[in-house]
Amino acid sequence: MYEWNEIALNLAKDIEKEIMPLFGTKKAGEFVAVSPSGDKTKLVDKVAENVVLEYLRPLGVNIVSEEIGNIDTGSEYTVVVDPLDGSFNFIHGIPIFGFSFAVFKNEKPAYAMLYEFITKNVYEGIPGEGAYLNGKKIGVKPLNEKSVSISFYTRGRGAGLVQKVRRTRVLGAIAVELAYLARGSLDGVVDIRNYVRPTDIAAGYVIAKEAGAIITDDRGEEIKFRLDATERLNIIAVNDKRLLGMILEEI
Ligand code: IPD
Ligand code: CA
Repeated sequence: MYEWNEIALNLAKDIEKEIMPLFGTKKAGEFVAVSPSGDKTKLVDKVAENVVLEYLRPLGVNIVSEEIGNIDTGSEYTVVVDPLDGSFNFIHGIPIFGFSFAVFKNEKPAYAMLYEFITKNVYEGIPGEGAYLNGKKIGVKPLNEKSVSISFYTRGRGAGLVQKVRRTRVLGAIAVELAYLARGSLDGVVDIRNYVRPTDIAAGYVIAKEAGAIITDDRGEEIKFRLDATERLNIIAVNDKRLLGMILEEI
């Protein structure tokens, strides 16, 4: 059997060793290729992904990763990773970025980890059991409608929402932001640019859901995504259905 928490943590530490010397450097941002979803792959993205591939390939599992796309081995397990979520932040010396790792067994969530390199925080989602931060159980916070804080990505749609909430934060690493929702630091994470990919959100989705979040598409339907690196999605993840209602009304 696979020990997914061990595998994910070993990988996180291996990636950390390779990438941290590049933090905030020009070299990290050198353009090296185009990803399957059409984004520019930067040097640091490739360095991080090479660590992932070297580690996971011998395990014989299917791999979905941001820069390389899908590797199908016919296994019942699919590991969906973003080796570095928050590349822009990393390259520009902004300390919010992480390693996003999610396992699906026959397409159903089986395990997820988000590792934050700077704080060294380990967030985990274990389907049916709960969400954890450094081994301690976490959950979304109760909504206070007078003091709502959300992360909100838009290109204009629903812009009125910023007037309905107390605080907006756009941190530039959506996997990390979903983990912040899970631990009760944010009330919601909203991205309605039709832009995030399954690789960006897979781990954060499992962790936030296990922490009690409601996660939908931009029509309020339960979010569905394929295990692939190219699909583009809208996501609304919140701690309370009243907040979901308010967001849907606004957008
Ligand atoms: C990006 C970050 C960012 C989100 C983008 C993602 P990347 O991931 O999560 O917050 O707005 O949609 O692509 O490219 O840095 O791995
Ligand atoms: Ca990435």
